[in-house]
Amino acid sequence: MKRLIPIFFGLIATTALADPFANGNPQAGKALVEKSCVACHVSMFGGDGSKIYTRPDRKVKTADQLKARIRACNTNAGAGWFPEEEAHVAAYLNATYYHFK
Ligand code: HEC
Repeated sequence: MKRLIPIFFGLIATTALADPFANGNPQAGKALVEKSCVACHVSMFGGDGSKIYTRPDRKVKTADQLKARIRACNTNAGAGWFPEEEAHVAAYLNATYYHFK
């Protein structure tokens, strides 16, 4: 738990600055992604799978594309997320990897 506290405040600071997904909760999003999404991305890219978001030729270039991609992966993965949960995931991925304003 101690280990998580700085991460938590770091995410709050990041999202407070500028964020098209300010209504999402990045902490909740992180848990959702770890549960439903990471394993497949790891099998493709190794490591923690985050290269899928940070590789130079990544596909998602705008906040709207990020939303659309999360929706599509939600459906494909059968995660069954509600729109609020997609918003949490968007907030998490944006705060951590994409940094769209
Ligand atoms: C069964 C495998 C699989 C699962 C499960 C999966 N993904 Fe993906 N994901 C992919 C593939 C394949 C791509 C596209 C890679 C490409 O186009 O180069 C991708 C791409 C993405 C991208 C875009 C990365 C970029 O290029 O910028 C995002 C964001 C993403 N996934 C989010 C999610 C989320 C959120 C979940 C959980 C609901 C999820 N994925 C679950 C296979 C998966």
